[in-house]
Amino acid sequence: MAPTAAATPDLAAIRARLERVGHGHVLKFWDRLGVAERRALLGQIDRIDWAALPGLIDKYVKDKPVFALPDGVEPAPFFSADPTQGAAGGSDAAALRRSWDAGAARAAGEDLLRRGKVACFTVAGGQGSRLGYDGPKGCYPGGAITGRPLFQFFAEGILAAQRRYGAPIPWAIMTSPLNHDATVAFFGEHKHFGLDPAHVVYFPQGVMASFDRATGRLLMAAPGEIATNPDGHGGSITALHRSGTLDRLGEAGVEHVSYFQVDNPIVRVVDPAFLGLHAGAAGSGSSGEMSSKMIAKAYAEEKLGLFCRAGGKVQVIEYSDLPMERQRETLPDGSLRFLAGSVAVHAMSVEFLRRLNEDAAFDLPYHRADKKIACIDPDTGEPIEPREPNGVKLERFVFDALPMCRASIVLETLRREEFAPIKNAEGVDSPASSARIQTERAAAWLERIGVKVARNSTGEADCVIELSPLTACEAGDLERVEVRTNLPARIGSGERVVL
Ligand code: UTP
Repeated sequence: MAPTAAATPDLAAIRARLERVGHGHVLKFWDRLGVAERRALLGQIDRIDWAALPGLIDKYVKDKPVFALPDGVEPAPFFSADPTQGAAGGSDAAALRRSWDAGAARAAGEDLLRRGKVACFTVAGGQGSRLGYDGPKGCYPGGAITGRPLFQFFAEGILAAQRRYGAPIPWAIMTSPLNHDATVAFFGEHKHFGLDPAHVVYFPQGVMASFDRATGRLLMAAPGEIATNPDGHGGSITALHRSGTLDRLGEAGVEHVSYFQVDNPIVRVVDPAFLGLHAGAAGSGSSGEMSSKMIAKAYAEEKLGLFCRAGGKVQVIEYSDLPMERQRETLPDGSLRFLAGSVAVHAMSVEFLRRLNEDAAFDLPYHRADKKIACIDPDTGEPIEPREPNGVKLERFVFDALPMCRASIVLETLRREEFAPIKNAEGVDSPASSARIQTERAAAWLERIGVKVARNSTGEADCVIELSPLTACEAGDLERVEVRTNLPARIGSGERVVL
């Protein structure tokens, strides 16, 4: 059927507007498009802020903004993973490592959980291009033996916490328009992994147009489609609000969300001690707005964002933005001065998220990433599969909201206990490295209660262990009688054990 005139009421005006800002090519193939394609393209055009585009392109695409290191930047203090280590109660304001009352913090966090004041929030809208997995990353088989999907690890962690604390823990999952339907279908196929579907909320994040790296013009994904990318995990703050999810959580009585990424199968979906510290227990000095977890960087060059402080505010500075000579600075005991690496785990209050969304001036900066982006040749319409980065993605990062808090705290955790991300197909942060960390963590927990685990000559566990969060979310869970009686007495060389 020929496209109707009604579908193109103000085409001349639209074309003139696009040409004025140098993007007339967006309509180049208009005559070839069918009705649905035309409608979709007009919808995309309508959602773009054309007035802001030239400024964005000049700042981020044609130029690479140089990061201005804040004056007086210093490492952020943090609460020690071993609560007894460090300066007590902020007694030494210069000390980075602080001790804390773990019992009081945990009790406060458990109280929040028992009263149904906590929701989980997973950002799962990324494209996972480094992993190269065909599907939403949360569907990726992160379990080394059973192929348990990443989403299932989190669902089981939530189920375990609901059972323990006797209250629902709603779960908000941010998807993107590119993986939303597949994510929702996956949960349906798996019967929500045993969770009450009424407590699982999915909402798609916003997208941002992708740019041609050489010219700054918008890339076209198809003759009738502007290439777009999800607008970064920082887009979650506005998407939570716009989708109505924030209101829904507030109406359910939720006061804090436990934020984590989709790529870490051993994340603590809710950590009572962290939640308690975040909410201000044990004199943490937290405003209860937004708090973070960190791990000690293994070496100065490790690519983790760093918790720093400037002008009294905690912020994350990307590893590429802090000069390497600063990252190599050491304390008298030889440890790294800028030690606190981000694991992208946060607690945020619903009130803080509301406040940001109600503030007309709220905005997070963009970060530029140069990527290979499939597109068409703007002159011929022929598809292009680039071998080198040809495009620029602009994304917002959630940690840029940290300086908007009145006071923000950081809690140290141990890498082996909570951080086994799957980002790359091979090497660092891959399925293989994650499986090794998962096994080492389970082996250490089992050995603590007397299970014999075979180890090789370098001391590594010589077996594969996949541990469900339903069995244990922390070492102490294995001591519970109902769990302990079902554990093997020993795990031998080469054994593969699912617990
Ligand atoms: P990554 O920074 O690892 O990005 O996301 P990615 O897009 O998943 O992977 P690559 O870079 O293409 O390989 C960290 C977390 O933030 C989420 C991801 O799903 C992951 O949980 N994320 C990222 C979003 O939810 N939306 C985005 O736009 C970007």
